[in-house]
Amino acid sequence: MARGRRIYEGKAKVLYEGPEPGTLIQYFKDDATAFNAQKHAVITGKGVLNNRISEFIMMRLQEVGIPTHFIRRLNMREQLIREVEIVPVEVVVRNVAAGSFAKRFNQPEGTPLPRSIVEYYYKSDELGDPLITEEHITAFNWASPPELDDMFNLALRINDYLSGLFMGAGMKLVDFKVEFGRLYTPEDVRIVLADEISPDSCRLWDIKTNDSMDKDRFRKDLGGLREAYQEVARRLGILQEMGPAEVTSLTEASGDSANDDDSKTA
Ligand code: TMP
Repeated sequence: MARGRRIYEGKAKVLYEGPEPGTLIQYFKDDATAFNAQKHAVITGKGVLNNRISEFIMMRLQEVGIPTHFIRRLNMREQLIREVEIVPVEVVVRNVAAGSFAKRFNQPEGTPLPRSIVEYYYKSDELGDPLITEEHITAFNWASPPELDDMFNLALRINDYLSGLFMGAGMKLVDFKVEFGRLYTPEDVRIVLADEISPDSCRLWDIKTNDSMDKDRFRKDLGGLREAYQEVARRLGILQEMGPAEVTSLTEASGDSANDDDSKTA
């Protein structure tokens, strides 16, 4: 499919104009960053795995009635999505203390929380994504009160559904981050799930050993990130569906950059 002009490049993804108005192509890079990009590496195959894992999760969520920007996967590294106006708020849902929460409240990682806790962070690399409250979001007009209600309710529904999905595949959903966007149609504007859901944006622990199967392997220098993401894909039943070119791409550096033309496997 013809890819249009590059319109945005983030740390792990690139957005291009899509084939029709109102669509975009989301390209998954192999770059891994942490601590606001102070730490960076290229992990061969990560983009291919995240494209597949995020596709799988978005499709399952759509099946249970969560509106998303996802249309379909195009090839190893690209998916077709609806163009939305991103709300500059990262919504984090936590089930177990870990990461910045464990630090902030001086709790050992792994402490179960009394209930799922929703947090908001302002999406700003310049400010280091500060923790914010609903007051900031509505006062600065980042989202209206009804939009914020939608985001809160959708985030908890996503948490309920994904906690069960991962549990059934032998993984604990410790926490995750989601982003939402406004989808404009001739009739109305509504909040839909955007961006990606992958081991880059979740904490997933093996149910038996509590081993990290997510980007904490990179943040904490544990190694084995690709193998862990591959195991997530295997447990979700995705790896088995991958074509030979995709499987090869997991271990062979392709000198790949966002500008390369990717082989089409979908
Ligand atoms: P935190 O404990 O570092 O605040 O992270 C909470 C969750 O959000 C965790 O699942 C990782 C995810 N996350 C992102 O997706 N992007 C980010 O920039 C950060 C800091 C966290």
